[in-house]
Amino acid sequence: MIPSIAKLPRVSLGNYPTPLMEARRLSAALSGPRIIIKRDDLTGLALGGNKCRKLEFVMADAQQKGVDTVITSGSSQSNFALQMAAAARKLGMETYLLLVKGVHVEKQGNLLLHDILNSAVNILDVADPSEMFTTMLKKMNELADELRSKGRNPLVIPAGADIPLGIVGWVNAAEEIGQQLKDQKIGAQYVVLPHGGGGTQAGLVLGFKQLKLPLNVVGISVMSKKGKAIDEVVTLVNEAAKLLALDVAVTPDEVTLYDDYIGQGYGIITDDCIEAIRLVAQMEGIFLDPVYTGKAMAGLIDLIHKGQFTSKDTVVFVHTGGLPAVFAYHQELAIHTKLSRGFS
Ligand SMILES: Cc1ncc(COP(=O)(O)O)c(C=O)c1O
Repeated sequence: MIPSIAKLPRVSLGNYPTPLMEARRLSAALSGPRIIIKRDDLTGLALGGNKCRKLEFVMADAQQKGVDTVITSGSSQSNFALQMAAAARKLGMETYLLLVKGVHVEKQGNLLLHDILNSAVNILDVADPSEMFTTMLKKMNELADELRSKGRNPLVIPAGADIPLGIVGWVNAAEEIGQQLKDQKIGAQYVVLPHGGGGTQAGLVLGFKQLKLPLNVVGISVMSKKGKAIDEVVTLVNEAAKLLALDVAVTPDEVTLYDDYIGQGYGIITDDCIEAIRLVAQMEGIFLDPVYTGKAMAGLIDLIHKGQFTSKDTVVFVHTGGLPAVFAYHQELAIHTKLSRGFS
């Protein structure tokens, strides 16, 4: 482990290393590259996902500060909000959520699980989901002031924990992936993953560069257009490098990102996403999610069709979790909706 990371406070929330699994039938179905899936959907905290690694550092910091209440934002089906709320319960803290009204506000998926966790949830009707990073930050700080005046010790954690301390968890993941590839004698060239706020991609870019591992990290944006998404990665890499006292910096031309698979907007499922989810389930028995990994896989599939990745390449696809949202999107995802006495 990078020495400056080993010195940071950390709470154990997940199980590592997460498996690196060969997806032979998927590779064959696509006549494409060798595809290996990094199973961060199996981290273990509240149905898994990429936020667990970020939260181990962010929540340890909260614990050290004597925090008793954590506040965050996200969309109504935010996976981060769920993971944070579950971590908070494990550490004896309360959770307040100021969520932006997304596509599914019914008590299904992540919102159902918040009900069980007894998180305090307030869903606000804002025009643009990206307000979770702007308007909502202001509202969260106002809520924190109110809670402080009532004697509580709250901490505002920005949506997705896309902050330098959160990124640290994914710098560690870069080392973990590098070690697994070495142990399993896999010569991969690419790591493909969804890009939401960009923290996961930033952690991997920073980690691979620091460790001098020749892996090209390819982000598939599910929210922001290319310029903004690349800026997010560059800023986070450089800020996290500073936090960790690493002599690493990146420039925009070093970040690979595609913004062609967002569709009509964040959280709005696309036909290609539905197809990708169903294909991966039927080839590998693995469930992707409708907001992040389904769109990232749709991107990978399209890039294979366009010859961007060929049978000579090996691609690691990072499964970043998001399983609960599958249930919130059941109407979009189910094709065989009619139950009958026979087979459909
Ligand atoms: C399942 C899943 N994948 C990917 C992401 C995106 O992660 P990041 O914000 O680090 O880009 C998220 C974040 O919300 C997520 O819930």
